[in-house]
Amino acid sequence: MTLEIIILAAGQGTRMRSAKAKVLHEIGGQPMLSHVIDTAQSIQPARIHVVYGSGGDTVKEHFQDANVNWVHQAEQLGTGHAVQQVMPHVADGANLLILYGDVPLLRSEVLEKIVDARSDAGFIVLTANMTDPSGLGRIIRDTSDNIERIVEHKDASDEELGITEINTGVICVNSAKLKDWLVRLNNDNAQGEYYLTDCVEMATRDGVVVKPTMIDDTEQVLGINSKSELAVAERVHQRRQAENLMQHGVTLRDPARLDVRGECHAGQDCEIDINVVLHGTIKLGDRVSIGPNCVIKNSVIENDVVIHANSFIEDSHIASGCIIGPFARFRPNAKLEKNARVGNFVEIKNSTLGEGSKANHLAYVGDSTVGKNVNIGAGVITCNYDGVNKHKTNIGDGAFIGTNSALIAPVTIGKDAYVAAGSTINRDAPAGEMSIARARQTTVKGWRRAKKSEK
Ligand code: UD1
Ligand code: CA
Repeated sequence: MTLEIIILAAGQGTRMRSAKAKVLHEIGGQPMLSHVIDTAQSIQPARIHVVYGSGGDTVKEHFQDANVNWVHQAEQLGTGHAVQQVMPHVADGANLLILYGDVPLLRSEVLEKIVDARSDAGFIVLTANMTDPSGLGRIIRDTSDNIERIVEHKDASDEELGITEINTGVICVNSAKLKDWLVRLNNDNAQGEYYLTDCVEMATRDGVVVKPTMIDDTEQVLGINSKSELAVAERVHQRRQAENLMQHGVTLRDPARLDVRGECHAGQDCEIDINVVLHGTIKLGDRVSIGPNCVIKNSVIENDVVIHANSFIEDSHIASGCIIGPFARFRPNAKLEKNARVGNFVEIKNSTLGEGSKANHLAYVGDSTVGKNVNIGAGVITCNYDGVNKHKTNIGDGAFIGTNSALIAPVTIGKDAYVAAGSTINRDAPAGEMSIARARQTTVKGWRRAKKSEK
């Protein structure tokens, strides 16, 4: 039987108190809807339909690469109404799995289990026992322990509110049957909405057995309706990320103080100290050590690199054996070749530093190609910007750039050239020679400091 999945993502999420559509709020740096789409994709359904509405096309635009069928729900009249919009696109007799875009932490194994559990005629609801079920739909079981109906919190009697078994929102059902029930839905309830959950009672009346599949791991079915729930989900997601890294052998000084907002692939024996944030796709080689308070985005860090505390690295490539920081900043397209060193308060942008080269303190290297074994002294600045255009600086192998020199691009410093401290270099410095460009020191003889006059 073909499997199709519907993801409901049209709600505004009033309780988020945000202008942004709810499903675009992020968990682990990705919109919550992308987690649901990824999990749905992992069980390889014939099709995935996503119902969108609030936030309009901005929601769709975030997922241009996703192979899903977008269905618009112009007015958010309830979860049942949302599913109704999709039904003309769903094959009759398909096994239909319905997920909510605001329940993003579900794992694919659970979905597989529900899909497998549904016999041809049956109807499965994923349920969970919550210590605090408030706000959620309650499961009313019949005498044979199947589900008789689901009552929404706002419509529940005091007695029903005492039930702790809740509807997670995940259901699996025969599409032809569901079509039939959906057209019979009404909105005669406390919220004036067409509830998908009302289909359960119709099913039981039609003699279809609605079976619960209960999930013990309630974290997976956390629904996100507010910023507090978003924060709880973020922590669950981060704990999973940390656990995954540790299972791959990464040493985390404190798994609760690492945030992975994307994915991190690490080789053997890497160590990550506290308060590190990793964004996008990060690749670490073997034995990489990352100090406390570092932020790394979309970068490749090869074997044996040491990154000291408080460094910020973005869209960069660091070859093996480099030592970085503390307080180093790498802006996009910084490339360090083997065993290079970049120390405190050094900024590198769109530049390559050759093997064994050093910029150990207080420097700016932008739009530059720096050869091997170059020494860039403290306070060296490549003046790459003339106010309109950016220009390149080329520094040959073995060059020495003295402290506090300004290299005014476009400029080339030859191989083994020596630039004396304090030079302002605006012409090419020839290979193997010393260039000096600073005012000569003079001594004014007999000059005396002013003194305070005595009263
Ligand atoms: C829903 C369930 C409730 C369940 C809970 C689990 C119903 C009526 N209630 O309640 O039983 O315990 O989820 O988290 O189904 N949506 C649309 N279009 C709409 C309305 C909603 O696409 O017109 C989407 C929302 O974007 C969201 C999902 O459906 O992703 C659930 O809607 P929401 O309003 O959050 O329902 P809950 O009140 O949480
Ligand atoms: Ca919800």
